[in-house]
Amino acid sequence: MQIIRSIAELRTARRGLEGTLALVPTMGALHEGHLTLVREGRARATQVAATIFVNPLQFGPNEDLSRYPRQEEQDLQLLEREGCDLVWLPTPDQLYPPGFATTVTVAGVSERWDGEARPGHFAGVATVVAKLLIACAPDVALFGEKDFQQLAVIRRMAGDLGLPVEIVGVPTVRDADGLALSSRNAYLSPEQRRQALALPRALEQAAEQIGAGQPVATALAEAKAALIDNGFTRIDYVALVDGDSLEPLEIPCRNMRLLAAATLGTTRLIDNLAVAAGSHSGG
Ligand code: PAF
Repeated sequence: MQIIRSIAELRTARRGLEGTLALVPTMGALHEGHLTLVREGRARATQVAATIFVNPLQFGPNEDLSRYPRQEEQDLQLLEREGCDLVWLPTPDQLYPPGFATTVTVAGVSERWDGEARPGHFAGVATVVAKLLIACAPDVALFGEKDFQQLAVIRRMAGDLGLPVEIVGVPTVRDADGLALSSRNAYLSPEQRRQALALPRALEQAAEQIGAGQPVATALAEAKAALIDNGFTRIDYVALVDGDSLEPLEIPCRNMRLLAAATLGTTRLIDNLAVAAGSHSGG
């Protein structure tokens, strides 16, 4: 596995890669979810590259940039074991040189939900992902559905900019009890880890209720109440949205997704679930 630290080295290495390339952009602190992306990349291309970069541009002033978990040695071992061919670990000044003044903003899909709760977050994500895609020139790039809105923003950005890459979303990987894997789960105390399960459970229950024809507003209100009952202190949103536009839905349609973001202690968790339209859904 080639470990690359500068853009010059990356350019040389990229020219030497034969066949097709899959890219897995990450912020490190890798878990099974990331490794699934690498495996999926391996199935879709001749070579697999990963990037590890904790992107300062996507963190707000009061967010967890300084405490975001960093475990470079362990991450490199995991990627090597997974058969990754190349890892690029850029530094902030390589991606954001002095005087850096260009950001990519995506209207529409980035505006609601985390776009409202985390102003500037998606411009930071779209900018860094555009830069990583341009520098690595992959044929395919893989992202987890766990960050469902992020995936929609990246798809829109890559399509709008005409980047010659296929963006692939990979289903969320969960612990055996249902909690979605996230690098931020490391912040949870054992008690909070137990309470966190209320998030996937609330989404599952709401999905069942909506699929069975119960009013959307009631299902969402019950999901929020369940989160508060289980120790979540702040709910940014629990919403039923159109799976493509991410616009809120009051009446079920064919392609729907439940999205949620809520805080437990000082840890903000997000999750999402596809909702199967039931016979009562009207569409
Ligand atoms: O999902 C992440 O880990 C990050 O948001 C990404 C896509 C690597 C951009 O920094």
